[in-house]
Amino acid sequence: MSRAVCPGSFDPVTHGHLDIIARAARLFDEVIVAIGVNPSKSRLFAPDERVAMLERSVAGLDVANVRVAGFTGLVTDFCREQDAQAIVKGLRSSSDFDYELPMAHMNVALTSVETVFLPTATGQSFVSSSLVKEVAAFGGDVSAFVPPFVLDALTARLAERT
Ligand code: PNS
Repeated sequence: MSRAVCPGSFDPVTHGHLDIIARAARLFDEVIVAIGVNPSKSRLFAPDERVAMLERSVAGLDVANVRVAGFTGLVTDFCREQDAQAIVKGLRSSSDFDYELPMAHMNVALTSVETVFLPTATGQSFVSSSLVKEVAAFGGDVSAFVPPFVLDALTARLAERT
């Protein structure tokens, strides 16, 4: 059985992430969306909130072979625990490639887990969680980039912080 891990912070999940997850689900028998939990990094949404947002988002995709989990520590250790052979990452640009390539090399050096890069859908190539948060924080309309319930959660969370 082929199994891939799609790791990320997903703070919050965007349509760009969901495009990559859905396409990965058509390439592998099973895909695990792995939400990195790093207590030393400050995030807008807590790990359990991000897991819940991913679970709801994935339920809306037309694929049935995706599950969601949080992980701490090395992504390669998580892959080994889950018996996953591959990590799937989306690439928006050459700068993403430059950032991701050393990690892919490190991950295959640590274990035999290969990284598979998928080009982000052209319409999503400028979308990132960071930009979505920044634009939303200044009152910009980010409804095209995240699921509606994520937009609601983002709006509410940002309102709490002002
Ligand atoms: O969405 P992000 O913030 O780019 O996701 C980063 C993430 C969680 C995928 C990355 O930080 C990660 O893999 N963290 C786990 C720690 C790890 O394995 N580090 C070594 C990478 S070579």
